[in-house]
Amino acid sequence: MHRFIIAAAAAATLATVPVAMAQHDHAGRGGQPHDGATPPAASDGREFVRMPDPVAERMLANMRDHLQALQEINEQLGLGHLDAAARIAEQRLGMSSLGPHGAQEVAGFMPQGMQGAGSDMHRAASRFVIVATDAGVSGDMRPVFSALGTLTSACVACHAGYRVR
Ligand code: HEC
Repeated sequence: MHRFIIAAAAAATLATVPVAMAQHDHAGRGGQPHDGATPPAASDGREFVRMPDPVAERMLANMRDHLQALQEINEQLGLGHLDAAARIAEQRLGMSSLGPHGAQEVAGFMPQGMQGAGSDMHRAASRFVIVATDAGVSGDMRPVFSALGTLTSACVACHAGYRVR
């Protein structure tokens, strides 16, 4: 019955989306069923990755910080503060961000493809740091925005493939 309602709502028009979401909430915290069963398949084909709730919560908090970091990077670029933009990328999205966020613990629950997407993002961030630092000297901003695009496409790629709820 539960699955039927969600499937029916998903198959219907956008107007019924709130109905589907309301049903989903009944499944428990963040849509996770209480009994730990796999939630209904997403109609978009993303792979469900099972994690203990505290690990998923830590990962999502980290994700929100990723988005905030991007916002701060854009703000600094707008001000012409390339060093500050590079520092935010390095500390919050780059290879050196891996330690403080307990990324290793989260990574242990990720399938290989998802781990690869995470590494791609950290690499793209480290690349952005180099490009932004160079632009501080050259004054050419185009490579900076291109590197920022590569970085955000790493977010998009992982989101397209995986879900935790
Ligand atoms: C390795 C995979 C991966 C990468 C890389 C990644 N994300 Fe995520 N992100 C996820 C998953 C999985 C979710 C949860 C999606 C779901 O279950 O619906 C998520 C959720 C989020 C959320 C929602 C958080 C919440 O509280 O609901 C935000 C915001 C977010 N990501 C931002 C980003 C940004 C910005 C980047 C890039 C700088 C990024 N993510 C890179 C996998 C990733």
